[in-house]
Amino acid sequence: MKIIAKDREGNEHELEGRDGWTLMEILREGGLGVAAECGGACACATCHVYLTDGWYEKLPPPSEAETDMLDMALGVEPNSRLSCQITLDESMDGIACTVAPE
Ligand code: FES
Repeated sequence: MKIIAKDREGNEHELEGRDGWTLMEILREGGLGVAAECGGACACATCHVYLTDGWYEKLPPPSEAETDMLDMALGVEPNSRLSCQITLDESMDGIACTVAPE
């Protein structure tokens, strides 16, 4: 599956997603500058992204734990998500996001 990710400089990257991986893992592997300090435990918010092209609405809503963590992140927008909390499957082919500022 395809992932369209914009880095902090505004450059668009097309990455290959893998079923069962999290969006954070793909962004990290792809060198998009996602620190993911807690390793995907929903405890750092350094994997913060904005879902674009209507993808926020297409995905199931964030859990309470994710919402609580996002409350502590900077630059939160209505389409903010923690990418470690998004587990990829084929229905997410073409998912688009922008990496949030550090
Ligand atoms: S990697 Fe820490 S909250 Fe996602």
